[in-house]
Amino acid sequence: MSDFKVVPMNLEHVNDIMIVESLSFSIPWSKNAFIEEITKNSFAYYYAGIYKGKAVGYGGMWQVFDEGHVTNIAVHPEFRKIGIASRILEFMIGESINKGIQRMTLEVRKSNVSAINLYQKYGFINEGIRKSYYADNGEDAVIMWKHKMDINAS
Ligand SMILES: CC(C)(COP(=O)(O)OP(=O)(O)OC[C@H]1O[C@@H](n2cnc3c(N)ncnc32)[C@H](O)[C@@H]1OP(=O)(O)O)[C@@H](O)C(=O)NCCC(=O)NCCS
Repeated sequence: MSDFKVVPMNLEHVNDIMIVESLSFSIPWSKNAFIEEITKNSFAYYYAGIYKGKAVGYGGMWQVFDEGHVTNIAVHPEFRKIGIASRILEFMIGESINKGIQRMTLEVRKSNVSAINLYQKYGFINEGIRKSYYADNGEDAVIMWKHKMDINAS
């Protein structure tokens, strides 16, 4: 993966990110939502995973005081299972440590085993359920927290 890097997301990445987004989620975010996040939301930090010049994945988070709230991570289906989400998440944890963030949290669909495994690998643990959190199918969300701010995967 020598051709891969993680960089702060900018407007030039948004078209590629929209492809990743539409292939990854049943309720994809709009292009405008990404533009607003990266240009107007001063609490938001978004990162793009670039492979051979194209954005093939991304991760985003909000800093809320000393907490990092992960909004999303997604990887283009053709580039999954080769460690790209891991690289993006490692980068986000590193950035969080640099910003003085003490703990990180996120919500994930109960059925999303791939994502839950990814987060568990980086020290996130299941700490609760938000019942019927997702509007499209009423699925529960698992609430995960990472309290020990280290980068290494278990
Ligand atoms: C979840 C997702 C981001 C993982 O991306 P990825 O680049 O394939 O992940 P990686 O290759 O870095 O894998 C890291 C770990 O995730 C877990 N994982 C990834 N894909 C998996 C799968 N198909 N089944 C089970 N576990 C999986 C594993 O623990 C893996 O570690 P391992 O390789 O040591 O087994 C990707 O599947 C995706 O974009 N899914 C759709 C969007 C989504 O659901 N995002 C999460 C929203 S909260």
